[in-house]
Amino acid sequence: MSSSKLIEALNEALAWELRAIAMYAHYSAYVSGIHRIQLSTHFNNEVTESVQHASVVRAALVKLDGVAITERDTTPILHTSEYKEMLNEAFKTESIAVKTYSKILPLVEEVGDTELYDSLEVVYFDEQRSVEELRMMLK
Ligand SMILES: [Fe+2]
Ligand SMILES: [Fe+2]
Repeated sequence: MSSSKLIEALNEALAWELRAIAMYAHYSAYVSGIHRIQLSTHFNNEVTESVQHASVVRAALVKLDGVAITERDTTPILHTSEYKEMLNEAFKTESIAVKTYSKILPLVEEVGDTELYDSLEVVYFDEQRSVEELRMMLK
């Protein structure tokens, strides 16, 4: 069975993780006002999480004999120092991540690799948790 569709979808997810790393690092540096105390650390933790997700996706690509992308998704990153705008951008990014991984999971099921499925499902749940957390933060 060809796994080219899965490889393509994984590379799409990887490109978004690479973009997330750049976005959250930027926001961690630029967030201003009283919320900086908490959000700078929060965004930094998101950088770490995205690095871990990228590593899971890259490992999956290696296992499937695919070539992992090295460029981030080209969707522009909004420059701002307003925490509310940052959280809105984060919400959009995390929602796209949920969509991307929900597209990947059925493709992994087709390939029939349960180890791969488990590792990517963990990432999918992380993204879902982020969306829910951001929804609460934006209330
Ligand atoms: Fe992620
Ligand atoms: Fe995320």
